[in-house]
Amino acid sequence: MLIDFSSLKKLAEGKTKIIYENPEDEKTVFMVFKDDITAGDGVKHDIIKGKALVDWRTNRDIFELLNRKGARTHYVSSPQEKVVLVKKLDRKINLEVVSRRIAAGSILKWGNEVEGTRFDPVITQFHYKDDPLHDPMLADTYIDYIVRAKGGSEYAEMRRMNAEIFLHLERVFAHFDIQLVDMKLEYGIIEGKVYLIDEITGGSFRLWPYAHKTPNLNQPNVLKELDPEGRLDKDTYRMGEKIDKVLTKFEEIAKVTAKFRDL
Ligand SMILES: Nc1ncnc2c1ncn2[C@@H]1O[C@H](COP(=O)(O)OP(=O)(O)O)[C@@H](O)[C@H]1O
Ligand SMILES: [Mg+2]
Repeated sequence: MLIDFSSLKKLAEGKTKIIYENPEDEKTVFMVFKDDITAGDGVKHDIIKGKALVDWRTNRDIFELLNRKGARTHYVSSPQEKVVLVKKLDRKINLEVVSRRIAAGSILKWGNEVEGTRFDPVITQFHYKDDPLHDPMLADTYIDYIVRAKGGSEYAEMRRMNAEIFLHLERVFAHFDIQLVDMKLEYGIIEGKVYLIDEITGGSFRLWPYAHKTPNLNQPNVLKELDPEGRLDKDTYRMGEKIDKVLTKFEEIAKVTAKFRDL
């Protein structure tokens, strides 16, 4: 039987999802994907019919993989199309945690980083989640200060979890000749512990196919080993591709993540 959301209390609505109460269990909530896509911190916005369903499939396959691996995530199940059952947050952490293997996107604007530069180990950065401020990056010195002032292990834990999840997903995408370039995740506190929350979909990462079958990824710059033009991720939308094309790319991601179930 389908869940009737019209009778359920809406707890929150963001750019891509709506959160509803679960009247049968106060420890979980329903997360429902929307067809909306945004970029530039919500400045660019479109509706792509069918995107919610594709995102739901990608999200399901990735979170089920992570749960099988033993990662601490809010994901419980995907009871019907576009709907995810997740553990309810006790406290949201208003940060986006970004891990990067290869320099691309916003990092190119900050310094002298050249596109395709390979980071080993991966670098992890915290961004304060605030659209009007364009999610500013927090300097490590500032984070060190907060940690000294307030104590606690949340930052250390998010940094460790983000890098671990990155390395795992990087290995898995590599099976399909795709490089995970970078990735953005969100965390929250559930029963006193740091949990991975939110979604992992085509908007959460950059994915570049290998340029050829046996790329040499062990060099300072790997741009020539990869095929950024063949990108599968939300950059297609950021760069102004037609929304049909964007949906096709997101479907390609879902086709790959569907194979994660056999791993
Ligand atoms: N496990 C959870 N429990 C409760 N709320 C959650 C959980 N995971 C995500 N959320 C909330 O879902 C809301 C909608 O998400 P989203 O559409 O991605 O928002 P945003 O536009 O802020 O990125 C956000 O307020 C987010 O904090
Ligand atoms: Mg979001």
